[in-house]
Amino acid sequence: MIGVTRMETSKLISIWSLFLVALLRWTPHLSSVEAQQTYKENKQLNCDNDLNYTDGYTCNGVESSCQAYLTFRSNTPFNSPADIGLLLGSEPTLIAEANNISNFEIISTDTQILIPVNCSCSRPYYQHKTSYRSSSRSETYFTVANNTYQGLTTCHALMAQKPYVDSNLTVGQNLEVPLRCACPTSNQSVAGVKYLLTYMVTSDDSLSSIAQLFGVEQQSILLANELFLNSTIFPFTPILVPFNSKPSRIQRASSPPLLSPPQSPNQTYVANKQLDCKNKVSYTYGYTCNDVKSSCQAYLTFRSIPPYNSPAAIGLLLGSEPSLIAEANNISNFATISTDTQILIPVNCSCSGHYYQYNTSYKLSSSETYFTVSNNTYQGLTTCQAMMAQNPYGEFELPTGINLNVPLRCACPTSNQTAAGVNYLITYMVTQGDSIHAITQLFGVEQQSILDANQLSGDSLIFPFTPILIPLKGRPSIIRRVTTTSNRRPVFVGVDMGATSVTNIFCIGA
Ligand SMILES: *[C@@H]1O[C@H](CO)[C@@H](O)[C@H](O)[C@H]1NC(C)=O
Ligand SMILES: *[C@@H]1O[C@H](CO)[C@@H](O)[C@H](O)[C@H]1NC(C)=O
Ligand SMILES: *[C@@H]1O[C@H](CO)[C@@H](O)[C@H](O)[C@H]1NC(C)=O
Ligand SMILES: *[C@@H]1O[C@H](CO)[C@@H](O)[C@H](O)[C@H]1NC(C)=O
Ligand SMILES: *[C@@H]1O[C@H](CO)[C@@H](O)[C@H](O)[C@H]1NC(C)=O
Ligand SMILES: *[C@@H]1O[C@H](CO)[C@@H](O)[C@H](O)[C@H]1NC(C)=O
Ligand SMILES: *[C@@H]1O[C@H](CO)[C@@H](O)[C@H](O)[C@H]1NC(C)=O
Ligand SMILES: *[C@@H]1O[C@H](CO)[C@@H](O)[C@H](O)[C@H]1NC(C)=O
Ligand SMILES: *[C@@H]1O[C@H](CO)[C@@H](O)[C@H](O)[C@H]1NC(C)=O
Ligand SMILES: *[C@@H]1O[C@H](CO)[C@@H](O)[C@H](O)[C@H]1NC(C)=O
Ligand SMILES: *[C@@H]1O[C@H](CO)[C@@H](O)[C@H](O)[C@H]1NC(C)=O
Ligand SMILES: *[C@@H]1O[C@H](CO)[C@@H](O)[C@H](O)[C@H]1NC(C)=O
Repeated sequence: MIGVTRMETSKLISIWSLFLVALLRWTPHLSSVEAQQTYKENKQLNCDNDLNYTDGYTCNGVESSCQAYLTFRSNTPFNSPADIGLLLGSEPTLIAEANNISNFEIISTDTQILIPVNCSCSRPYYQHKTSYRSSSRSETYFTVANNTYQGLTTCHALMAQKPYVDSNLTVGQNLEVPLRCACPTSNQSVAGVKYLLTYMVTSDDSLSSIAQLFGVEQQSILLANELFLNSTIFPFTPILVPFNSKPSRIQRASSPPLLSPPQSPNQTYVANKQLDCKNKVSYTYGYTCNDVKSSCQAYLTFRSIPPYNSPAAIGLLLGSEPSLIAEANNISNFATISTDTQILIPVNCSCSGHYYQYNTSYKLSSSETYFTVSNNTYQGLTTCQAMMAQNPYGEFELPTGINLNVPLRCACPTSNQTAAGVNYLITYMVTQGDSIHAITQLFGVEQQSILDANQLSGDSLIFPFTPILIPLKGRPSIIRRVTTTSNRRPVFVGVDMGATSVTNIFCIGA
């Protein structure tokens, strides 16, 4: 952000005209044609994204100020109405009252609580202002916005408050923090809406679960955020929930008693759905977390290919320990592995929201896309769908040189698998010429256990460059096979994304 003194006249003019636009918007009879608020998706995660709706909700309501609500997840040291009130600039007694607790009561970690705030228009955005004193050298606008304030403000909105030049904060610096809030639009008022809650989405939320939690119509949430039924919502982003009366204390259904074994369905085979980036079926994002384990040791397979042909280089690409890769494959850290040899990669797999994953990162060079990174570089161990959901760049707006988050696919055993003695799951990448039969032989497992683990039946098809789960009781042993792409080059795979041409070749069973 630059100081006003350094702005060229043209910028001042545009700012001025913005101001005028905002003033015009203010005229009540015009506000009826105003759109509702725009949902930010995960755009706020990128501090360089200059989209104005990352700054706040536009002042387009009937009132220029109103009572509004925010949600906050209790976490140490912000775990009592007193501490949270101080952080968020709200009255502790009002927080206590809204949540039916006492002022100094310690709230257990991760409990969502309601924060009443006075919301007002500070053109062009509605905000509730508070302040924050930076206390450590490692704090940045991003960590303050995302971690401390849990996404209730954005790095952009913070930077917009003061003409700071760079993103480094000085210890002891006082920041003005505009928290996101909004007042009902005229359409909402007509429909009886009195309060808007800025609800912070958590990892297990869906539009319907949020509607249920607050007992409001899903349609009113969709309208309030300009969302459609098919829209994706992201953790740590705000969504507006309209209320006709004061919201009552958030009461999540308590976690199910551990008496009956938890339901943990087997994973769905992704088939060739992952080759089409537009196909956003849930299982293209990863393997679903089950209730049995939130993290575990797991394995992936990778085909050696220059420059990724030593434990050191592969470890760097996949974010795994070279020495553990070397050990799992009985080679040395810097051994050159011949091209197309399948090797085992041990990873620490954990549940991140809805999906199990193992995170690594990749620096993008020119001409690469989500598809080439996921399919070619990572050999299908991640998908363009999963990457797009976890990076703040659109499909066609990938800047060269950025570091992309790469969620690699892995999974932990289900209750049924655990009961059957399974300790590890390998995310095995199907190669050309594979069949379920060949895979069972490679790992010495029962064909039925692979079919079950992937919800496949005897006549399902499997596709090259797609992952399949192999359940194992003991640690996997070295894969003794070099895939021969040279003599089995026959079929044309995947270019059409539909891969229908492979169906008759890659059949299950021998
Ligand atoms: C407001 O309500 C009217 C009538 O229901 C509708 O035509 C209009 O599109 C709505 N405006 C917005 C921004 O939703
Ligand atoms: C936000 O951006 C949109 C499109 O770029 C523009 O039409 C709108 O006027 C902007 N609003 C504000 C408040 O800057
Ligand atoms: C508030 O909490 C008290 C005891 O902690 C309980 O008796 C009362 O029913 C609660 N009120 C509401 C509205 O939940
Ligand atoms: C809102 O403002 C009123 C009047 O200034 C004040 O009494 C009240 O405590 C404020 N509410 C919150 C939640 O801070
Ligand atoms: C954003 O903050 C949440 C906790 O509020 C944290 O779990 C998440 O990792 C943070 N995101 C980034 C990119 O640091
Ligand atoms: C900001 O901090 C980073 C890392 O701490 C440092 O590399 C960089 O030089 C700093 N920038 C300024 C302008 O001080
Ligand atoms: C989502 O639904 C809306 C209307 O219901 C439609 O216009 C839009 O194209 C859909 N988007 C996707 C990605 O399917
Ligand atoms: C677990 O196994 C039992 C018996 O084999 C089966 O009835 C049940 O459907 C399985 N549960 C899941 C979630 O797959
Ligand atoms: C590991 O490799 C060494 C020599 O390269 C060999 O002697 C040993 O048997 C191998 N161990 C296993 C478990 O394959
Ligand atoms: C898994 O995590 C443990 C403990 O943090 C670490 O020692 C180990 O190296 C990790 N394994 C891999 C494969 O990165
Ligand atoms: C899941 O796997 C178990 C055995 O591991 C099997 O009994 C069950 O039928 C499978 N469930 C589905 C839905 O495929
Ligand atoms: C996907 O990657 C593989 C190599 O991992 C490559 O052979 C194949 O052509 C790629 N598919 C497409 C559609 O580019």
